[in-house]
Amino acid sequence: MFDPIKVIQEYLRFPSVSTDPDYKEGMEGARSYMSSLLESIGCSVEVIKTPLHPIIMATLNDDTDWPHVIIYGHYDVQPADPFDLWSSPPFEPEIRGNRIYGRGAADNKGPLLILISAVARLLEKPEQLPLRITFLIEGEEETGSPSFGGFLKQYKDKLDGDFLLLSDTGCISPEQIVITTGLRGVVGIEFEVTGAQSDLHSGFYGGAVLNPIQVVSEICASLHNQDGTINIEGFYNDVREVPNWEIEELKGIESSEDDFAKLLGVKQFYTSNGYSPFAAVRFCPTLEFNGIGGGYQGEGNKTIIPSKAFAKITSRLVADQNPEEITRLISEAIKERCPPHVSLEVKEGHGGSPYLVVPPDHPNSTTDQSPTLTQAFRAADRAISDVFGKPPLYLREGGSIPIIADLKNVVGLDSLMLGFVTPSDSIHGPNESFNLDLMGKAIDATERILASIANSREN
Ligand code: BES
Ligand code: MN
Repeated sequence: MFDPIKVIQEYLRFPSVSTDPDYKEGMEGARSYMSSLLESIGCSVEVIKTPLHPIIMATLNDDTDWPHVIIYGHYDVQPADPFDLWSSPPFEPEIRGNRIYGRGAADNKGPLLILISAVARLLEKPEQLPLRITFLIEGEEETGSPSFGGFLKQYKDKLDGDFLLLSDTGCISPEQIVITTGLRGVVGIEFEVTGAQSDLHSGFYGGAVLNPIQVVSEICASLHNQDGTINIEGFYNDVREVPNWEIEELKGIESSEDDFAKLLGVKQFYTSNGYSPFAAVRFCPTLEFNGIGGGYQGEGNKTIIPSKAFAKITSRLVADQNPEEITRLISEAIKERCPPHVSLEVKEGHGGSPYLVVPPDHPNSTTDQSPTLTQAFRAADRAISDVFGKPPLYLREGGSIPIIADLKNVVGLDSLMLGFVTPSDSIHGPNESFNLDLMGKAIDATERILASIANSREN
């Protein structure tokens, strides 16, 4: 019998950090482990080369009369440093209490294994499973999926599914599961300011040249208003109004703001326009400074005017903001606000669009949704209610999975996103973990969802 606890312990041992070339072997390890796992349950597996990390595509059944579900996940993880903050080494998984600790436990190795385990269990049953499944498991999600666009162009015909099923988003607690109805988009920009050709003595030259750190700080400080909104003309132009039912749905979040603040260790929340923190992360776009630097960083003083300073910025987008347009607006604002005394280099990263799906049986749902997806949403509602004893909440998410909007825009696939990552899982942080009791229940629920889709054509 397929044993998810054994599998997750083996799978978490591969240090599949996609952003760092030193972890090439870990990436290969995770990829071949995943390929063999999919083969072992009966899939035909293809490993597709890309400019960076290969994509695993695995198929099960090829009867075109059956519903076709594309299951998405990623085998890469975020870097684990700083290592000294981990209670057990990040790539030597350890079970303590009902949790398994390790980098990737919750993002995304555990949740992807929920989907695979459910498929494996259904295949172990004597009855036939009248369902086509294509697994699409990439290795660049945590670096913004740079190779995915090229892959999609070439393989779009194979992705003729009824919908995409994934579990790479969050819930409120192990008792309150979420069906995720949207993701924020994301864009990245870096800029570097150069003054003199090298660091200058600040006594010899101080007062005569403009300091690049001062310029970077002033540009950064200008990008927000006092009320926390973003101070760039046109930034909010395309933001779509949030329907009432989504605002109402937030009331189902039972954890208090105080508990949430304590969990994060912040003194107080800071949001714009009076939004609660739960609403702000879902409904508002942001502009964040991810890193800023320049000049002397060592012990004591160094009396210099640095030659260079830089800042790294990312911005999260909500429907219907366009990544190219927002990149252009931010880039223009930086250029306009940079004084002529220094030179400026702006590097624009590639972005991802926001994504929204309206679940059936909700006020603004559409009738042109794939009937199989409608069926899947209803099956998910039922299965989660039955297994977890409480119906799911339908919430957007603050995080991003850029390829989800690409799949919608290029091949028309909508997504059913099952959120099983809890706020205690510390994704991207030290001591990342995943709740194994939740994992077991989630496998049960997913099994029911898939079984119901498999039988949908007969009814
Ligand atoms: N699984 C996350 C996205 C996520 C996190 C969704 C929390 C919902 C709640 C995903 O692996 C991730 O971290 N994505 C990156 C994408 C970025 C690198 C382009 C993100 O959101 O920062
Ligand atoms: Mn993820």
